[in-house]
Amino acid sequence: MEENALDKILIINGTLVTAETSVKEDIAVENGKIKDCGNLNPASHPGYRVIDASGKFILPGGFDPHVHLSLPTPAGKSCDDFRSGSLAALAGGTTYMMDFVTPRRGQSIREALRLRSAEAAESIAGCGLHVGISEWNPTVAAEIVPCIEQDGIRSFKAYLAYRESIGIGYGELHELMLIVGSAGGLVMVHCEDGEMISRLQAELLQQGKTRACYHAMSHPPEAEIRSIEKVIELSAVTNCPVYIVHTSTARGADLIAAARKSGIRVFSETCPHYLLLDDAVYDSALDDMKVMPYIVSPPIRGRSDQQRLWEGLSDGTFDVVATDHCPFNLHGQKDRGANNFTKIPNGAGSIEHRLRLLYTYGVLANKITMNQFVSLVSTRPAEIFGLGHRKGKLLPGYDADIVIWDPEYTGTISVKNHLEHCDSEIYEGFQVLGGPDTVILSGKIVNRKS
Ligand code: URP
Ligand code: ZN
Ligand code: ZN
Repeated sequence: MEENALDKILIINGTLVTAETSVKEDIAVENGKIKDCGNLNPASHPGYRVIDASGKFILPGGFDPHVHLSLPTPAGKSCDDFRSGSLAALAGGTTYMMDFVTPRRGQSIREALRLRSAEAAESIAGCGLHVGISEWNPTVAAEIVPCIEQDGIRSFKAYLAYRESIGIGYGELHELMLIVGSAGGLVMVHCEDGEMISRLQAELLQQGKTRACYHAMSHPPEAEIRSIEKVIELSAVTNCPVYIVHTSTARGADLIAAARKSGIRVFSETCPHYLLLDDAVYDSALDDMKVMPYIVSPPIRGRSDQQRLWEGLSDGTFDVVATDHCPFNLHGQKDRGANNFTKIPNGAGSIEHRLRLLYTYGVLANKITMNQFVSLVSTRPAEIFGLGHRKGKLLPGYDADIVIWDPEYTGTISVKNHLEHCDSEIYEGFQVLGGPDTVILSGKIVNRKS
């Protein structure tokens, strides 16, 4: 973090990149907001700190709408907290993130929201919260509208997997969507058929198939596909907009594309690990300790799924690339499932790497344009989650959350140098080309390389 950063900043000679355009313009920042964009003369901006961004891109700060910091699980909390996770996010160009309130069963949502808000206040970056619905009963149902109207929560998340802990069923989801839809909110859904998964897990364990690699077999593509089908159907009948998190399958992407074409309000997300890794990470020849870092739900899929997901970024099927950042240490957390794959906490980290990975393997590989990149990591998530009037664009009056992007930056991702708090790294050895030179948060410089 840079101390005593000036409040007035003039960035000259860069290329401003938004979801629509790339233009050579200067940008002035004052009092935490973007003051002006255009041809701005330093001589007429006395008192401004001038940054020469020749050869660099100016982007709206990254917006990651799906992270789990200090997520409580039976294996302990996910190992980045709001402070460490937000510092890693900022280093990677993400200035705003959204986490979740996950009420304990029996706990009031609004009480859980109060406690979680106090934790989230530790974030150095901007931070918002969605509310998870971890059980369904009349008390929970009665809390939804006050949550929207009095606490300003717009997005509610349901897990169709994890039936033994926080998951709910389709009938319960239907009722949730009726209430949220008519109150003007949005329902986010983890689409994996919980009953199918529980049955497959029990069958595998009964056959003595306890190793980490069986996680993927217990979460087959059909579990996601069936669940996406059903959720789209529910969105159509309830008229409630849905946001499908972490889509991993080609068929899931096709279903989403068709639903959107027919006018159903489905927003969708995929994550870097589904775009960049493949199911070789679950090879049964690998030692279990090598497999465990990759235990995420849904699991990482095959190459043909991966290809369709990339197409979905450029053909508009997906609105957002989010991280689902949820790291657990290999030693002491993931390895609790050494004798039973169902006990391995699900999740992995990438909050620090999302922009660099998508730029290197998306933009530079000509799979997406620079404008699509900005849309996927910043503009669309800000719009979908109700902050499109303040974030995700470079316009006068918008929050001065800005990244000066250096296309010449090179690096190698490693557990040895990442800021994320985790003793493993699923992108170990990945080369990245292009990264943040300077990160400005609410008008203050918080990271600067050059
Ligand atoms: O494996 C995952 N995705 N862990 C985080 C919780 C969730 O399902 O989003
Ligand atoms: Zn999930
Ligand atoms: Zn998640």
